[in-house]
Amino acid sequence: VPLQSCNTFGIAARAHTLVRVRTPQDVHDLLADHRLARQPLFVLGGGSNIVLTGDVKPVLLKMEIKGRRLLEETDQAWIVEAGAGEVWHDTVAWTLEQGWPGLENLALIPGTVGAAPVQNIGAYGVELQDRFHSLVAIDLATGRPFTLDAAQCAFGYRDSVFKHAAPLAEQEGGGLPGHWGRGMGLAGRAVITHVRFLLPKDWHPELGYLDLERRRAEAGVAHPTARQIFDWVCEIRRAKLPDPAVIGNAGSFFKNPTVTPEQCRDIIGRDPKIVHYPMADGSIKLAAGWLIDACGWKGKSVGKAGVYDRQALVLVNRGTPADSVTGGEVMTLARAIQTSVYERFGIRLEPEPVVM
Ligand code: EPU
Repeated sequence: VPLQSCNTFGIAARAHTLVRVRTPQDVHDLLADHRLARQPLFVLGGGSNIVLTGDVKPVLLKMEIKGRRLLEETDQAWIVEAGAGEVWHDTVAWTLEQGWPGLENLALIPGTVGAAPVQNIGAYGVELQDRFHSLVAIDLATGRPFTLDAAQCAFGYRDSVFKHAAPLAEQEGGGLPGHWGRGMGLAGRAVITHVRFLLPKDWHPELGYLDLERRRAEAGVAHPTARQIFDWVCEIRRAKLPDPAVIGNAGSFFKNPTVTPEQCRDIIGRDPKIVHYPMADGSIKLAAGWLIDACGWKGKSVGKAGVYDRQALVLVNRGTPADSVTGGEVMTLARAIQTSVYERFGIRLEPEPVVM
């Protein structure tokens, strides 16, 4: 099965077997099929956070479960549920149309609802975990559905329990453990079918991110609505980030690294202009895009893999659909960037998308 249209990088890999999952029952049917269930499984949403470095040998589950509804309304909040296969941005727009604000800062993030908790998507001062209620998933070993709350998802910066493989002893044990935490991963062991959002009625605009605050000041609006923030976020993203429908990419290619205050002072001594943000825990987060830019990578290419000319943190496909970039070329460029950032700043950049 060709996968070029199933990954936003537009890499021309193939899957040996692809199963479209439109209902939770489809997962049960798959697990009941002994020929398929014995093979390793891999879950794919919108393919917007993945680099395919070759053909995909595990059975690919393409999540297409749809549906959006108000699950519960209390005095304090709306609890909204969406199927894993719903398009993320359309779901954000739909909640706003219903009059339930809270997801507006996360507008225009590519991908699906089911993928959002996997990497705890975040932008402009809001992360999924800030609006998360719970999720429903199916244990791929037993076929049993289960629910996870935010603590059980072990959310971190672009991280969750779904990004980590289980320790081997546990994988052999079959069903899921009764408790979860960092180091006890669910990668490859469960498939998310539904995500529930908690949208408080006591809504406040989140304008902490500099780009957004600047946009608010330009507009001369003292108390923006959620709809205005949604529109501004869309404008900012369109100006900085390539539309995957036009130029293949997987969003930020590296995580923003954190350093100690001592390391940061040392770098500032040599590079006074470095972009850095103090974190609540005392560490300092650096802008990986700035580090890559400072190493002169913006706009450069290695083969058909390129560094986007308006945001150095985004690697792009400079090939054509008939002659697209390969995952190998992307990783060669990524390693070259990691090497130069390490040599100049002593910082190891960690890839953000899943490399398959
Ligand atoms: N910068 C440069 N040169 C560049 C790119 C950035 O100097 O080529 C500087 C900018 O001037 C700015 C700073 O670096 O001062 C940060 O850049 P930006 O505001 O574009 O945000 P980011 O830290 O690069 C993160 C997320 C994005 C998210 C934005 C907005 C990560 C890995 N990336 O990017 O998320 O949209 O903040 O909140 O945390 C994604 O995860 O795929 C993603 C796009």
